[in-house]
Amino acid sequence: MEAVEIITTKRDGGRLSDEQIDWVIAAYVDGQVAHEQMSALAMAILLRGMDRAEIRRWTDAMIASGDRLQLTGLDRPTADKHSTGGVGDKITLPLAPAVAACGAAVPQLSGRGLGHTGGTLDKLESINGWRASITDDELRAQLRDVGAVICAANERLVPADRLLYALRDVTGTVESIPLIASSIMSKKIAEGTGSLVLDVKVGSGAFMKHVEDARELARTMVALGEDHGVRTVALITDMATPLGLTAGNALEVAESLEVLEGGGPPDVVELTVALGREMLTAAGVTGGKDPADALSDGTAMDVWRRMITAQGGDPDAPLPSARETDAVLVPADGVLVRLDAMAVGVAAWRLGAGRARKEDPVQAAAGVVLHAKPGAKVRAGEPLFTLHTDEPERFERARAALEDAYEVAPERSRPEDRPLVLDRVDAASLG
Ligand code: URA
Repeated sequence: MEAVEIITTKRDGGRLSDEQIDWVIAAYVDGQVAHEQMSALAMAILLRGMDRAEIRRWTDAMIASGDRLQLTGLDRPTADKHSTGGVGDKITLPLAPAVAACGAAVPQLSGRGLGHTGGTLDKLESINGWRASITDDELRAQLRDVGAVICAANERLVPADRLLYALRDVTGTVESIPLIASSIMSKKIAEGTGSLVLDVKVGSGAFMKHVEDARELARTMVALGEDHGVRTVALITDMATPLGLTAGNALEVAESLEVLEGGGPPDVVELTVALGREMLTAAGVTGGKDPADALSDGTAMDVWRRMITAQGGDPDAPLPSARETDAVLVPADGVLVRLDAMAVGVAAWRLGAGRARKEDPVQAAAGVVLHAKPGAKVRAGEPLFTLHTDEPERFERARAALEDAYEVAPERSRPEDRPLVLDRVDAASLG
């Protein structure tokens, strides 16, 4: 087969055959198809799209590029959650232990941050001693003994995605529904979870800027999961404004600990509980403890401490704090009516919380603390953001990112009313 013929077929709006899809993915992983050819094909897919059957075959070919994890032999059903990525999205941290405390086993294979969105592994690595890489046997043992694992996927799980995701990141081909859906679902299906709840983000801080696109992405992923025997549900949630009051690795761990102590920002608690309930229902664990109770009665915190300890971390070690801080002040009295997620994500990234290239290090303590959320009354001269970094030369560009990030309107103004959970997609809603 010829890579060029496959590229031109898609470039001209045609559909790819099963054989073409199987061949091009296997040949890319083998090194027979060059990166420049795969990047041309990814761009053709982004511009021309794929039908459902093509997306399904593409996902299957990605899964077949590596090993599948076996999570059988546990005494309770498995439930995982995946977010399409946002700013301040630390939900996995309180969610995994809360759901485990309610009776499901949570295998949460996570990634690192790229660009303005944070990565769960980067956040957890700010805990002294914690390690992201564990063997498959350790993963199974921890799931059995603790009930929750957050770790890196091993190298053999969907190697095609490892290559393709890095390529898409540098070729402007991330924001494609077929490519995002197949990337996420190939990993989740190969990981062997019995059920999956997707948090599909929409808004300035997300890949999907419009709710219609988010809905299409959710429907595509739910169909892929159900076709592969994984009970899959998606919530479409708002990412116009950051989640919680922190963006940055150690800052987000600290905020997650507040949630695990029964406090924390209301939006983080609301989403943790909503996703947790969906996970338990999808896993068939009903009538038991509610995730809200697991957060308030300390049982989620108990699981958290065991989960961190099992991976070498010290749950009692102080979290790193930044060497330097700087405040951005409220310019006038009034009501905060807009706070842009993307701008806060970029500021946190510029302060050192994120990376521009996969191999870049991240600063554990860098990030942004918000002192108000939309709807709050603010007073001139009070801090609106506190910027944290170990390298003060980073402040200027972070401040520049935040210049148009917010709007303070006269008192009695109200921000646009937007619920956090905007929609829900399950197998029944696919029609
Ligand atoms: N997350 C993934 O794992 N893949 C994508 O393509 C986008 C977000």
